[in-house]
Amino acid sequence: MAKNIDWNNLGFGYVKTNGMFVATWKDGSWDEGAIVEDDMLSVHASSTSLHYGQQCFEGMKAYRAKDGRLLLFRPKDNARRMSQSAERILMPAIPEELFVKGVEQAVKFNEEFVPPYGTGGTLYIRPMMIGVGANLGVKAAPEFLFVVFVSPVGAYFKGGMSPIAIVTTEYDRAAPMGTGAAKVGGNYAASLYLHSLAAKEGFADCVYLDPKTHTKIEEVGAANFFAITKDGAFVTPESPSILGSITKYSLLELARHLGMEAKETDVYIDKLDEYAEAGACGTAAVISPIGSLTHNGNKHVFFSETEVGPVTKKLYEQLTGIQLGDLEDPFGWVHEVK
Ligand code: PLP
Ligand code: COI
Repeated sequence: MAKNIDWNNLGFGYVKTNGMFVATWKDGSWDEGAIVEDDMLSVHASSTSLHYGQQCFEGMKAYRAKDGRLLLFRPKDNARRMSQSAERILMPAIPEELFVKGVEQAVKFNEEFVPPYGTGGTLYIRPMMIGVGANLGVKAAPEFLFVVFVSPVGAYFKGGMSPIAIVTTEYDRAAPMGTGAAKVGGNYAASLYLHSLAAKEGFADCVYLDPKTHTKIEEVGAANFFAITKDGAFVTPESPSILGSITKYSLLELARHLGMEAKETDVYIDKLDEYAEAGACGTAAVISPIGSLTHNGNKHVFFSETEVGPVTKKLYEQLTGIQLGDLEDPFGWVHEVK
């Protein structure tokens, strides 16, 4: 194991590791890529990724199981989503084999940084693609880099499974037919100021409403939103301007597997009384229970501001149990890095 790391107190910050995977697209095809023992990239100052935001990324984790195995969660779904994001901003698709190989090699090369089982830590994996090479006009880059770097992480929201307080923002992170469904940097640039306004008021994050009518919940910062209705159904917003969270799709399936009704549907901001529990979900956020949601100065408390609701707790245990290899995986989601 890597030395000088306090595995039990990792936050969500960058920790330098042994190296990263880099592949290059040039003249219409990808090379096979390789590990480089560095965490710096040298790119042309006129690269489209630096000027025009021609870049996309993914967020994944490697988990250390009790028996020491290194596990990924649904990596092929991240591969598919990355190619969909790439297509939206005129970048080449990444073949699934190259994507999974890059992720596996980055994890293997940095195996000593995968936090020990039982610490709650994981190895965060950041695959990304950037447009590089000399260019001035607003057009696609002549070359692209596919990079996978990693960093050990702990909880994304302070306190992990403790309920968070969130607040709606009057701003939008994405337009109705914009790039909200793609995991591209521009969406995150658009979110930084809004997050800072929420944080200044003491909230963990902000809630985006649908950009067309501002009446329906879309996302919670860099995570999807879900709620449990008073009659026990799992609901989560459906919209063309939110990112299709792999965690959210997994929770939809898990909830059905547990015998619950589960569906994507509209969640109106003025009908929060319909819900018994609420949460944010994502790779970084895992499942973060939402204690309260403030809108137009009115605070709505879901289950409790201090306690986690029973359904949220059950879903968390099932999801993380499968991800860590503690529970049987009837869905075929877990992928071992050999
Ligand atoms: N929504 C946004 C905007 C995100 O950045 C993320 C993180 O990836 C998610 C939702 C959650 O998606 P996933 O569960 O695939 O990590
Ligand atoms: C993730 O959950 O992996 C994300 O990408 C969220 C964020 C840290 C950008």
